Amino acid sequence: MTLKRLFIQNLRNLNSVDINPSDRVNLIFGENGSGKTSVLEAINVLALGRSFRSHKHKPLIHHDQLEFTVFGKVKADDGADVPIGINRQRDGSASYKANGNLVPSAADLAVYLPIQVISADTFLLLEGAPKVRRQFMDWLVFHVEPKFFPLWKDCQRCLKHRNSLLRRDRMPSNNGGRSLELASWDQELAFLTEQIDILRARCVEQFKVSFYDLLKEFISLDGISIDYYCGWNSDKLFAEILHAGLERDIQLGYTQIGGHRADLRITVNGQDAAEILSRGQQKLLVCALKIAQGFVFSQMTGRKTIYLVDDLPSELDEKNRTLLAKWLDSMETQVFITGVEQDSLLSIWQNIPNVVTKLFHVEQGSVKEIVKTFVE
Ligand SMILES: Nc1ncnc2c1ncn2[C@@H]1O[C@H](COP(=O)(O)OP(=O)(O)OP(=O)(O)O)[C@@H](O)[C@H]1O
Ligand SMILES: [Mg+2]
Repeated sequence: MTLKRLFIQNLRNLNSVDINPSDRVNLIFGENGSGKTSVLEAINVLALGRSFRSHKHKPLIHHDQLEFTVFGKVKADDGADVPIGINRQRDGSASYKANGNLVPSAADLAVYLPIQVISADTFLLLEGAPKVRRQFMDWLVFHVEPKFFPLWKDCQRCLKHRNSLLRRDRMPSNNGGRSLELASWDQELAFLTEQIDILRARCVEQFKVSFYDLLKEFISLDGISIDYYCGWNSDKLFAEILHAGLERDIQLGYTQIGGHRADLRITVNGQDAAEILSRGQQKLLVCALKIAQGFVFSQMTGRKTIYLVDDLPSELDEKNRTLLAKWLDSMETQVFITGVEQDSLLSIWQNIPNVVTKLFHVEQGSVKEIVKTFVE
């Protein structure tokens, strides 16, 4: 799966960009504020309907414009070209197109363009709230388990209904009466949660194998462990715990436990990795998590994920930059990497033979290919 053509109109300072990326390494350089991260954001928007920098769409629309458009031609795994596109308006409306047809949501585009982002924010994977790691885990589950997304959507709906019933039952006017409705939502919630748990647990097991292999091969960090937490005490059935916690849930007005509390616990000798590892070690560990994710995705689906790496040189020292470049190279996938200095970006790839590289210069919102490929 590669992005063969990328067209961007009125996204941040990018008024009109039309490029044909390499199906391997794309190096994007330019001064601060020129628009490099915006190019990666545009690819992210095309893949997921939103940016990796902000969940709001308005900051993405060029100040002077009412809408932005991103269009891409994706080479599917069967070799067919699939056009996909997204348009977002200032009033909030959005349209998504795949293969010439309107599709209902960004999730319908996500299947065409699996991407992984490595940026400064990616380090929140270790430091951030469980939600960040849950999203990381669910990316893999979404892409390898077709049953996951409909179950997840139903589960979200169910949880919302349950929470509003909990709040209703808390009202004095209800005389403490427990609604029968709640019992039926509980049953459905328990069923969906247990199904989601099975899919997540299965993916995380696969993921752990690849991740530990990758660590052994490249990093000398002992005692690192990844453990899946399903969101409740897993010795008991979820339905039982949900029932036992009902009074407390009513008092609180929301459901305390469940798959919406799932997490990936990343520790070093039993302690939180974010509290133990140095900044550089954390960065490398996060890169290893991202690479392992793409690797497992490829093993389980036979497809490849695209990597967007924002401002690589500033995030890692030289040794680790080269290590990441080797990891990315071993994935044989399409990558987009930004950096301020042309030479420092190029030097990272110089030790890796036979890499087809395209170089793009970004200047005040316009992107030009520099015809200077280096193939050893
Ligand atoms: N909605 C918008 N409309 C127009 N310009 C915008 C909008 N949002 C951001 N910008 C500008 O777009 C430019 C590109 O930002 P971007 O973050 O892509 O730069 P960059 O090349 O990644 O810079 P850096 O090297 O500092 O990371 C910036 O000058 C920014 O101020
Ligand atoms: Mg940037």
